[in-house]
Amino acid sequence: MDVLSPEDNSYEDYYNAEGLEEFGLCKKTHVKEFSHVFLPVFYSITCALSIIVNFTLLTLFIKYKTLRKVLPLHMVISDILFTLSLPFWAVYASSEWIFGDQSCKAISLVYMHLQKSKEEYYLEGHGQIPAENEGKHGDIVTVQLGGFYFHFITDPLSFGSVVKEARTKLDFTKFAELLVARVFGYHSMESEHKVLQASSTKHLMGDGLVVMTQAMMYNLQNLMLHSVGSGDDNQWQETGLFTYSYNIVFRAGYLALFGNESVKSTETLEKAKEIDRQHSDELFKEFRKYDQLFPNLAYGVLGPSEKMEAERLKRLFWSTLSVQKMRSRDNISGWVSDQQQVRDEQGMQEFMQDRFMFLLLWASQGNTGPAAFWLFLYLMKHPDAMNAVKKEVEEILRETGQEVKRGGPLIDLSRDMLLKTPILDSAVEETLRLTAAPVLTRAVLQDMTINMASGQEYKIRKGDRVAIFPYIAVQVDPEVYPDPYTFKYDRFLTPDGNKKTDFYKGGKKLKYYNMPWGAGTTMCPGRFFAINELKQFVFLMLSYFDFELKNPNEEIPGIDIRRWGFGSMQPTKDIQFRYRLRF
Ligand code: HEM
Repeated sequence: MDVLSPEDNSYEDYYNAEGLEEFGLCKKTHVKEFSHVFLPVFYSITCALSIIVNFTLLTLFIKYKTLRKVLPLHMVISDILFTLSLPFWAVYASSEWIFGDQSCKAISLVYMHLQKSKEEYYLEGHGQIPAENEGKHGDIVTVQLGGFYFHFITDPLSFGSVVKEARTKLDFTKFAELLVARVFGYHSMESEHKVLQASSTKHLMGDGLVVMTQAMMYNLQNLMLHSVGSGDDNQWQETGLFTYSYNIVFRAGYLALFGNESVKSTETLEKAKEIDRQHSDELFKEFRKYDQLFPNLAYGVLGPSEKMEAERLKRLFWSTLSVQKMRSRDNISGWVSDQQQVRDEQGMQEFMQDRFMFLLLWASQGNTGPAAFWLFLYLMKHPDAMNAVKKEVEEILRETGQEVKRGGPLIDLSRDMLLKTPILDSAVEETLRLTAAPVLTRAVLQDMTINMASGQEYKIRKGDRVAIFPYIAVQVDPEVYPDPYTFKYDRFLTPDGNKKTDFYKGGKKLKYYNMPWGAGTTMCPGRFFAINELKQFVFLMLSYFDFELKNPNEEIPGIDIRRWGFGSMQPTKDIQFRYRLRF
């Protein structure tokens, strides 16, 4: 199947208004006409008033320093920056964005500028900072983002009061529903979360994971080892390590979950495998294009040309993963087929199910590939870690009577074998600590109190958001992890070689010390499968390939912080490496 020109390129179904109306979307022509006139006028008046008020305040601040105690100076500066972006929004609202992509990003950044406030400002004191807290770094930091007050809990000892709070007070669905509607065009059904959790428990954990591990192995072998023994790939190949790792892990994960080319439609299994290799590679290239647009798409700040590209890509994925096309594939995972079945039974239209398939692809493939890159890079940059992992891999193969040799059978890695790798587990956990940075967000459904571990109570208003950003709050906290930005492969190992779980802050043991998978009811249901994918990838690389960095002295690239909040981070640039099959 050629994903670049899918046979079925009619997309009317996806945009048919009848379907959308059922999901509650109205025709918005009159609203748009009104907003073309109203918004520019509104923005202009707001801009003028805001300039007058904020510059007056600034003058007063300079004259009367005591005023700064009542209203922090940085809030006035934030307001001025925000005000300066309004003329641009006024022009945009009246016609379209005419200032180019770069300025769109710059203005959007200013718009989203964090208005960091003294924590009590929005809480009990309504502008008064209680004297006992003045100057202290509190347990909550409040920021204004896209029109909402987000209260970030910064004390990891207090995470439980958010993660475990009842859904009637702190709701996770609202935020997620809005995001998936914007990014994937999918409108959630009633029991969405329950269905996803139930099928994930069945197919991505326990016995289900045994099947998924086999499927992943089969596809990794097809992608990485298809030319073993033929002598074809024995020459050094040079490429970017990020591109390579993401490509392999994405494609194998996709094929394991969404199935293989049907052998019935090809003459032989070999032909079907070849089509899998080609099709998944094409799909990966398109996925990366969407991936790169993703942060701006999620923030709702794409420029016009990017918007068109995002639409094209969405349609392509809806079509490629459509329920109709899935019917003709072999080995579709229970995880994917269960989702389709339940939605069918609940009467969801097929075009909406297709959109959900894209969402599943995203959730399952957007994080593991980047994580595989970081893991492999850290191992390559730390020879002690690489040697320890290599030794463990060789030990497991020896124990299970397997040998990597010319002309011999390909090695197989079962889920049980992958349970006996404490060193690799620790290296994976350390990699995720350094490179996974999700934000957990909950909508506040009623006025409520958050009880902190320190005994402090904070009153939070209905309509606000409560959030946790574990990366900053705990994952790189030097008190919890000395020398926090250094990769230490054995950080999560006890002296006797078991998994280490005791980490402390302020002398107290932390329950939430590393949170790459989120926490609570929304915790990533694919985490066990993801860890297996990473380990299988490393096993095969170490067993079958020679590899080296093109420039061994090149620094580990930085993290692209535009992705903060979305799970696995990506590097600011790729890093070149060479690899070749050993035989
Ligand atoms: C290194 C790889 C991965 C990372 C770092 C990761 C991380 C996350 C995070 C942080 C969340 C949100 C948790 C929250 O809001 O509290 C999430 C949700 C999710 N992940 Fe993963 N994930 C990974 C791989 C996978 C894989 C391989 C699958 C499936 C095969 C998967 C399926 C999902 C699904 C379906 C959700 C949504 C759960 C819900 O809404 O209840 N993830 N993941």
